[in-house]
Amino acid sequence: MPKIQIDNIEIAYDDSGTGPVIVLLHGFPFNRSLWTDQVVALSQSYRVITPDLRGFGDSESGESPATMNSMAQDVAKLMDSLNIATATIGGLSMGGYVVLAFYNQFPERAKALILADTRPQGDTEEAKQVRSKQAEDGLSQGMAGIVNSMLPKLFTPDSVTKHPEAVKRVREMMMTTKPAGAAAALLGMAMREDHTEMLSRINVPTLILVGRDDAITQVADNEGMHARIPGSQLVVIENAGHVSNVEQADVFNSELLSFLNEIN
Ligand code: MLT
Repeated sequence: MPKIQIDNIEIAYDDSGTGPVIVLLHGFPFNRSLWTDQVVALSQSYRVITPDLRGFGDSESGESPATMNSMAQDVAKLMDSLNIATATIGGLSMGGYVVLAFYNQFPERAKALILADTRPQGDTEEAKQVRSKQAEDGLSQGMAGIVNSMLPKLFTPDSVTKHPEAVKRVREMMMTTKPAGAAAALLGMAMREDHTEMLSRINVPTLILVGRDDAITQVADNEGMHARIPGSQLVVIENAGHVSNVEQADVFNSELLSFLNEIN
């Protein structure tokens, strides 16, 4: 797995396939392996770049808080180092927050956007306090508390029964996250800007995907983005919760491919 040095921290990524470039950004507290099913499906016709955002997977942590803007700058610098001027930029949940922060800073570098199970608004005061407590607990007690509180919200009850191996894979992915990286990202998410007003200025093709039963970033949040982003497409994926790309990988991939094939 290649790594590049960005502002004194090492960022790891995978670079698979050839063709128009798609950059996919994972959510919290995952890593680039969240996109395994998408890399297999897309890399037959596209070049798929999946970084570990700072503090996750094999990437080092930078300063805490790890803001969404700093993660977006890492993505732009990764693209610079690979000589990629523009790409389709996609992300799930926190990855979607980073996509919006990327578009806000580098609109000319986004050829299209993919927003999966995410939302544009910032945190409420109450949510900020929960993040800060989770960050403290994560640092003092490790990842188990964060994982145990999030896991029931990630999958539909049906996925838990029918796909225990997927739940196990995601749980293990979360448990390998370093508490320092998770804490920095929690504090960074708490500080993120509200991008609702920016949505009407997005002028590139945009695909929004959301699990029908997403308990974290709900269908209504995603419908709100669809209403504001001119010409955007919204796909609600049945029998899926927050990690819709894992729970319904085939549906997710075929929607993604038909969008990409349309715009490339
Ligand atoms: C994620 O999946 O990235 C997180 O649930 C996002 C969040 O906590 O706001």
